[in-house]
Amino acid sequence: MLVRTNRVIQSPSGPGSVITRLMMAVLQSRRRVLITGAAGFIGFHVASRLLRDGWTVLGIDSFSPYYDVRLKEARARSLESDPAFSMVRLSIADRPAYEAAWAGFKPDVVVHLAAQAGVRYSIDHPDDYISANLIGSHNTFELARNHPVSHLVAASTSSVYGANTVTPFQETDRAVHPVSLYAATKGSMELIGHSYSHLFGIPTTFFRFFTVYGPWGRPDMAPMKFARAILAGEPIEVFNGGEMMRDFTYVDDLVEAVTRLIDAVPGGKPLTGDTLSPVAPCRVVNIAGGRPVGLNDFIAAMEHAFAKAAIRTMAPMQAGDVLATDASTALLHQLIGKVPETPLAEGLERFADWYVDYSAKSAIEGVLPAMH
Ligand SMILES: NC(=O)c1ccc[n+]([C@@H]2O[C@H](COP(=O)([O-])OP(=O)(O)OC[C@H]3O[C@@H](n4cnc5c(N)ncnc54)[C@H](O)[C@@H]3O)[C@@H](O)[C@H]2O)c1
Repeated sequence: MLVRTNRVIQSPSGPGSVITRLMMAVLQSRRRVLITGAAGFIGFHVASRLLRDGWTVLGIDSFSPYYDVRLKEARARSLESDPAFSMVRLSIADRPAYEAAWAGFKPDVVVHLAAQAGVRYSIDHPDDYISANLIGSHNTFELARNHPVSHLVAASTSSVYGANTVTPFQETDRAVHPVSLYAATKGSMELIGHSYSHLFGIPTTFFRFFTVYGPWGRPDMAPMKFARAILAGEPIEVFNGGEMMRDFTYVDDLVEAVTRLIDAVPGGKPLTGDTLSPVAPCRVVNIAGGRPVGLNDFIAAMEHAFAKAAIRTMAPMQAGDVLATDASTALLHQLIGKVPETPLAEGLERFADWYVDYSAKSAIEGVLPAMH
């Protein structure tokens, strides 16, 4: 019987046996992807999917304390049960450590998701955004220059559309009025990445994600915050009297799009409404559900999913927030065809099932992440 551990495959007949060598050959022939932010919400889902698709995955994550690290540890444990996955704990702002991991692994593709996320947190913690989103991303581009990959894909955000009011947001719109430092660092990352793509021929795609939700979600985002409050009978804050719209994206739909876009390497003739650079193999593309929902309708869908009424407290609009996000998905669909668009009610049902199950298990095992 073969005994699989996280990184080593052993067989009773020893490391030199035919079976062991065959297994090693299979693992070595798989495509190799390095995912930054793999212990994060989206990184965990992308890594899980690529492992299922037969990739060998190296995750990099600093396990930053922005939200409860136990949730990140739980995601990492789940990934580490697959022998084709390894996790390295380091900050992408630490160039020598990052370079050693990258050069040792020799990725074919890099999926850069590590970031200091969150709009409101950037007001009091600006340094974290400069370190992860600017220095960390710059290191990523430098490493792609020194250790070429077939495609570098990186997470940007709908927040770069900032003060734009014309909807739906199209990738070709000027996005030069960020209203948070988070958005400013992500927009800057796109510009720095374009210059690297131009100068060093690095095939690069930036994804502008729109409010992603689902199982294993982020405790600082509305679905997790509202779920905890609704189940605890505590009030939820309804910003701007509920007069806000968000283009919610179910995480499995986003992962499907990311997976297909990995093989859509920028090049060739531009498509209609394309952002393909005239001087670099570089493109920006929205990934979104494409069906914005009002905050009050979102809360109603949460109440339905958890079969419990929410207690609402009205709160003013938060600094750094935008009123509405609404994505054009025309370019996305030209690039990869139609992707699934899970209806919000269905996505929240799946989220609620996970949340209830995870909370119960965590309470028993004493690892319930404290949601802030
Ligand atoms: N979730 C969304 O709705 C959403 C929307 C738009 C954009 N994004 C972007 O998608 C990406 C993933 O977001 P997420 O929701 O999974 O967030 P997340 O916070 O759950 O994941 C980010 C991960 O990056 C890690 N990290 C932070 N700084 C690091 C550093 N210096 N070195 C190494 N690792 C570091 C964190 O520990 C975390 O595990 C981010 O780039 C984010 O800005 C997310």
